[in-house]
This record gives sequence, C-alpha cells and structure tokens, in this order.
Amino acid sequence: GSADFDLYRPSEEHDMLRDAVRSLAEAKILPYAAAVDEDARFPQEALDALLANDLHAVHVPEEYGGAGADALATVIVIEEVARVCASSSLIPAVNKLGSLPVILSGSEALKKKYLTPLAQGDGMFSYCLSEPDAGSDAAGMKTKAVRDGDTYVLSGVKRWITNAGESEYYTVMAVTDPTKRSKGISAFVVEKSDEGVSFGAPEKKLGIKGSPTREVYLDNVRIPADRMIGEEGTGFATAMQTLDHTRVTIAAQALGIAQGALDYAKGYVKERKQFGKPIADFQGIQFMLADMAMKIEAARQLTYAAAAKSQRGDGDLTFQGAAAKCFASDVAMEVTTDAVQLLGGYGYTRDYPVERMMRDAKITQIYEGTNQVQRIVMARNLP
Ligand code: CAA
Repeated sequence: GSADFDLYRPSEEHDMLRDAVRSLAEAKILPYAAAVDEDARFPQEALDALLANDLHAVHVPEEYGGAGADALATVIVIEEVARVCASSSLIPAVNKLGSLPVILSGSEALKKKYLTPLAQGDGMFSYCLSEPDAGSDAAGMKTKAVRDGDTYVLSGVKRWITNAGESEYYTVMAVTDPTKRSKGISAFVVEKSDEGVSFGAPEKKLGIKGSPTREVYLDNVRIPADRMIGEEGTGFATAMQTLDHTRVTIAAQALGIAQGALDYAKGYVKERKQFGKPIADFQGIQFMLADMAMKIEAARQLTYAAAAKSQRGDGDLTFQGAAAKCFASDVAMEVTTDAVQLLGGYGYTRDYPVERMMRDAKITQIYEGTNQVQRIVMARNLP
C-alpha cells in the first residue's frame, strides 16, 4: 500500500486522559522513579497507583471488564507514565504485549478466563518469545510443546522476559512441529502457578532497572490443550502480528522518555546562569532545544498515526509499527543524550534525572526487535 500516514486527531477525551495521567504520574510515580532505579526494585507504588485508577491495562475491551481504551489512548497512558518513569510504563505496555495474542487470536473461553483477571488487577501478563539463542531470529526457538492427549507439555528456556516473576500469566511461543520452522510454532498461555514454571535471577541492566527482566524456565510444564492461542502452527504469525501493534507502544514509551528529558532540560537552562545570564539565552543552547523538540514532534506524529492505524485494524500496520518504534527510539536516545549535555557535569550525576532517562532510552532501540530488525521489517514491507 501507499504511505498513507493517515490523519488522526486526539479527541477531547484523549486530551483529558493525558492531563489526568500526567497529574497522577507526577504525584504518585515520579517521587519514586529515582529510588526504583537506584535500588533496581519493582515500582509497586506505580502499580498501585495505576491499579487504583484503572490504568494498568487500559487496552482490555469493556466486554471483559476492561477500560476499553483505543490504541491512541493506550499510547498516551504509556507516554505519560514513561515521561516520569520508564520502568513503570512497562506495566501498561507489557500487559498489552502479553495479552494481545489472546485478544487477537484466542478463543472466547481464553479471553474470558485471562482478560478478566488482567482487567481487574488480579494478574499481569508477560510475553515469552526470545530465548538464549533465539533473539532477532525468533523463529529459531527451541522451546517445545509436545501434545499428550488433552494436554501439551512445554519445556525450554525463555530469556529477557519483562516483568517475569511479577506476572501471573505468560504468553509462550513454542515449537509444536520442528520440521516447519515458523509455521511449526504455536502460542500458549502459561500460568506462574503451573507446576514446572520457575524464574532466573533478575538481570543487572543499564536501565529500566525497576522492571524485572528474568529468564522463565519451563520444566515439563503440563497444561490443558485449550490453553493454546489459536490453531497449532499459527503462534509465530500471532507473535509477529502482536509486535506490529505493540511496537507502537514502545514508540510511545520512547516518546515519553524523550519528552521527560526535554521538559527537564528546558527548565534547567532557564535557571542555570553562566557568563552573567541564563544559558537559555545562548543561541547554541536554543538550537539544541529546537532540534530536540522538532525530533520529538516528528516521532509523536509518526507514533500517533501508527496508533490510529493500529486501532482501525485495516491492515498493513507492519511498516508503520516498525517505523514508529525505530524512529521514536532513535529520537529518545538522541534527545536524552542532548539533555545530559545541556546539564553538563550535573547531567552526568545521579542527582539529576536525565542520566537515568538516557540509560532508560537505550533499551527502546533494542527490545521488541532491535532497530536493525525494524529496518529488515520495513524493507520487506515498503509502502
Ligand atoms: N504479521 C503476521 N504474520 C507475520 C508477520 C506479521 N507482521 N511477519 C511474519 N509473519 C508470519 C508469516 O506467516 C510469515 O510467513 P509468510 O512469509 O509465508 O507469510 C512467517 O511469519 C515467517 O515470517 P518471516 O519469513 O518474515 O520470518 P523470519 O524468520 O525471516 O523473521 C523477523 C522475521 C522480522 C526477523 C522476525 O524474526 C522478528 O521480528 N525478529 C525480532 C524478534 C523480536 O522483535 N523480538 C522481540 C521480543 S519481545 C520483547 O522484546 C519484549 C519485552 O519483554 C519488552
């Protein structure tokens, strides 16, 4: 199709949602952002605040007790949380990533069974695609699921699983027919309480330290066959289709991190005086701020257009999802690096939030497919 970067217009409701999430994030999430990073601990305060305001999994349709937010509203929630704390924004983002396979391809029974507790705040969702030896080459996975009567038995190791251990539910992609590569992969819902499920030690990361990343071990986990999402052999397509939508939410996270860094730097340069005046009065500083704001605006337009397309579901989201994620994450890295530069020596210390934002930004160029993979995806789906 053509590069129809369709017009969208955030409604008055979207604007009100943004204001509400911004106030909540500044009051209840921002105060803990530095500590969550410093101590590498789960942002329980953020989860509590999001739960209390029904913002933890806004994408869940109303028929399953969810808020039924559209894709743009979901983006706005993630963006505004990420603006103050990137780790916390992975709560709504990964709840969508983990549960979208069920929403897109699951049976009615699976939707009722798993979306309802997710919406009610009785369990988060994680997404298990990557493995120690299958990252960019996701179809090269080894985890297998062997049919045995009315059950499947899953065994293998999943790696880099966001919110592992915290989540109650896991969408797991596993090989059901090793002769068929991607067409021999199926998707399942695994529960934390299933016998044989365990977790590795939390990874020690550069950023998003508040969001636990752990391995998920599946040691002959026997689950009912009706936990399969869709038909046998459709799991890889479901996983890829999910990423088309959720790369837009990673773009939103990147956008929020970048906006947070710009907002902080903007305030700082008005206060900081050198050579007898605020450094904001120097054109060199003004040009940097102008470039940062311009890049953020371009990333926002691309992300919201992709969100509008994700919502309409009129096909061909693959290019735009990858483009939004790739572009916005590169912008986040550039803008946060410039924010550190604007704060100079202060920016390089943990006394100011911009170095955390710079460290947090880096992951957005890596997860949900590296930006090199995004370029493969875009090249294969050129508009
Ligand atoms: N929508 C629907 N189906 C799709 C699809 C899409 N966007 N992309 C692929 N498929 C299906 C198709 O059925 C396709 O078969 P056909 O060609 O016959 O149509 C089949 O999958 C195989 O596709 P490819 O031949 O393109 O597969 P490939 O092996 O060449 O891999 C790839 C393509 C794009 C590199 C893919 O492996 C990929 O996206 N890799 C990156 C993985 C990734 O993003 N991992 C992130 C993990 S999640 C994470 O980071 C989470 C976190 O915790 C925050």
